[in-house]
Amino acid sequence: MAGRIVLFGATGYTGDLTARALVERGARPVLAARSEARVRALAEELGGLDWELADVERPDSVRALVQRGDVLISTVGPFARWGQPAVQAAIGAGAHYLDSTGEGAFIREVFERHGGGAQAAGCGLLTAFGYDWVPGNLAGALALRDAGEAATRVEVGYFAPGAGAGSMSGGTRASSASVMLSRGFAWRGGRIVDQRAGRRGRSFELRPGKHARGVSVSGSEHFALPRVHPSLRDVDVFLGWFGPASEPLRAMSAAIEPVLKIPGARGGLQSLFGRLVTGSTGGPDAAARAGSRSLVLAEAFDAGDTRLATVRLEGINFYDLTANLLAWGAETALAGGLQGTGALGPVDGFGLDALERGCADAGIARV
Ligand SMILES: NC(=O)c1ccc[n+]([C@@H]2O[C@H](COP(=O)([O-])OP(=O)(O)OC[C@H]3O[C@@H](n4cnc5c(N)ncnc54)[C@H](OP(=O)(O)O)[C@@H]3O)[C@@H](O)[C@H]2O)c1
Repeated sequence: MAGRIVLFGATGYTGDLTARALVERGARPVLAARSEARVRALAEELGGLDWELADVERPDSVRALVQRGDVLISTVGPFARWGQPAVQAAIGAGAHYLDSTGEGAFIREVFERHGGGAQAAGCGLLTAFGYDWVPGNLAGALALRDAGEAATRVEVGYFAPGAGAGSMSGGTRASSASVMLSRGFAWRGGRIVDQRAGRRGRSFELRPGKHARGVSVSGSEHFALPRVHPSLRDVDVFLGWFGPASEPLRAMSAAIEPVLKIPGARGGLQSLFGRLVTGSTGGPDAAARAGSRSLVLAEAFDAGDTRLATVRLEGINFYDLTANLLAWGAETALAGGLQGTGALGPVDGFGLDALERGCADAGIARV
């Protein structure tokens, strides 16, 4: 039997958008979720798709979703809480895997803990294959290619012009809470080091004369870009969504750091936030999404801090972009377009030229 695309989390906000993006591209994914009534209704609405029931609290039900040759997409998050069963199911079956996480701690687990198992199983793991953090990988790799061998540092900034209150889904809010409390990391001096979210801040020029600040976060760029540019010593990624709240947010992150070092405090606060900020509450409608856009900048520097290259990508809003990227990535992986096994970044996974075409197809391109 030819492989299938299985979408786990289809009834969530991002899952629903991804199911529609897949169908729009002509695919017929198998929809999987925990609520029979809701997954059945969605499968019927989208043209009589196959559907399955699976719940992360019953890992057997997740394992039963996939077999070798399939591609599993998971949009079940927060991934720190709900992410493991899907990635383990994919490795167990030897199926390629993509997810929608933006959470650094989960990304680090995929690269550091699951890559070897996936390599042995002959499958590829593409974590964080949405707005977080595909465009930064593309922009960073293009800037490094433009800059050439002399580049030793790359910095990426993510912005969302037009995004305001109400532009986040419940799932994004729940995951953001878990990101602020988790251990972050960066690529520094040629290796991954611990670095809390908000440790660094900087300003980017969005357009001539218009600057905006970003707050450092942990993405997949830190793991993936050094693979395609071996002389890279430092990688930083900045989120520029917070406007004037950026510096207060950094101060708060610094203030909370000693508290998180108290034994048990991090886990306790994470579980408190998990109860207070829940997902599965929907997200912005099509009109609200259309009001925001994606803007991603990358700058490459040499060892003397001279900026050698700048790349700017512009595109559609981050939710439709995420759904389109997941749909493109899964279809391409199913068609044999993956260039390797194990934990892969977007560039080493698909190749820079194919990724640039895929991103343009999904709605974001170099300007
Ligand atoms: N990388 C990016 O740029 C990007 C973009 C969008 C979203 N995201 C991330 O993707 C994740 C989903 O976001 P969202 O907006 O779609 O949130 P959401 O609407 O809360 O979706 C969460 C999904 O997880 C499912 N789920 C929760 N517990 C489950 C369980 N025990 N078994 C099976 N399924 C379970 C929910 O099922 P029900 O439908 O039954 O509640 C729902 O389908 C979040 O982590 C978010 O941060 C990232």
